[in-house]
Formats: sequence, C-alpha cells, structure tokens
Amino acid sequence: MRRWMIIPVLTALLSVPTLAGAIEDKPKAPPAGASTATHRLYGRKCASCHGLDGKGDTKRGIRTKANDWTKPGFLTQFTDEKLIELTTKGVKKMPGYGEKLSSEEIVALVQYMRLLVPDPAPAK
Ligand code: HEC
Repeated sequence: MRRWMIIPVLTALLSVPTLAGAIEDKPKAPPAGASTATHRLYGRKCASCHGLDGKGDTKRGIRTKANDWTKPGFLTQFTDEKLIELTTKGVKKMPGYGEKLSSEEIVALVQYMRLLVPDPAPAK
C-alpha cells in the first residue's frame, strides 16, 4: 500500500464504530467527582438512550422519548429518592433496572447524573 493511502484508510477504520453508534460505549473522561466504574456503567447501560451528556438525543433516546436532563430545572424537580425509584422500577419506555443492577449501582448512577448535569441542589 502506498504511504499516502494510510491516512484515509485509518480514518475510515476509526469512523466505523461511530457510524454504528458504538460511540456511546467509548467513555470520555468522567465528570469531576465521578468514579470511572460508574462512568463506564453509565456508558454501557444508560448512554444509548440518555446520551453521554444526558441530553437524551441519541437515536434510541429519540425513539423512546427520553428527556433532556440538561434542560434547566429538569433534574432538580426530582429528589434523589425519586430518581432511584424510577431507575429501579422503570418509567414509560424505560425498563426497570432493579433486577439487573444492585441498589448500590443505582444510587451511584443517580449521583453520577447529578455530576453529569450540574444543577442546583435537588428539590426537597
Ligand atoms: C431504552 C432507552 C433507555 C435506557 C437504556 C435507559 N433509559 Fe432512563 N429513561 C428512558 C425513558 C424513555 C424515560 C422516561 C421519559 C419520560 O418519563 O417521559 C427514562 C427516564 C429515566 C429517569 C427518570 C427521569 C426522566 O428522565 O424522566 C431516570 C432517573 C433514568 N431514566 C435513569 C436511567 C439510568 C440510570 C439508566 C441506565 C441504568 C437508564 N435510564 C437507561 C429511556 C432509557
């Protein structure tokens, strides 16, 4: 192969996972204060719908009508307890995660959401 061809070929290879939507699995750096383990868990289980940024505008997120967590005041309308309950039991098109994840993992994911989308303190 000629040397000048290497760059376009590499670029094509690198963009394949992006086209397939696998980008959601590619963890960027976790938000400040979040653990890498929870960041990865979120990337594996939640980001396909909620997006790595919480906007919910991925293909699956749009199809299932996930909410935009970055909308001011969106997350603050819920207490941590409520977010934990919704994640555990499921809501609308989202399946419950009570069987698949431990309660510690669900609590960690809710804390992660707060770090991912910084908003004022949760409503009481
Ligand atoms: C199949 C797509 C999908 C996946 C995967 C998914 N969610 Fe959801 N999620 C949704 C939808 C749809 C809603 C409900 C939106 C509504 O109430 O109108 C929702 C709602 C929520 C809510 C309630 C707040 C809100 O946005 O309405 C929380 C909390 C939540 N999800 C957390 C998680 C966590 C944590 C994970 C990973 C363990 C996860 N979700 C995975 C689609 C998904």
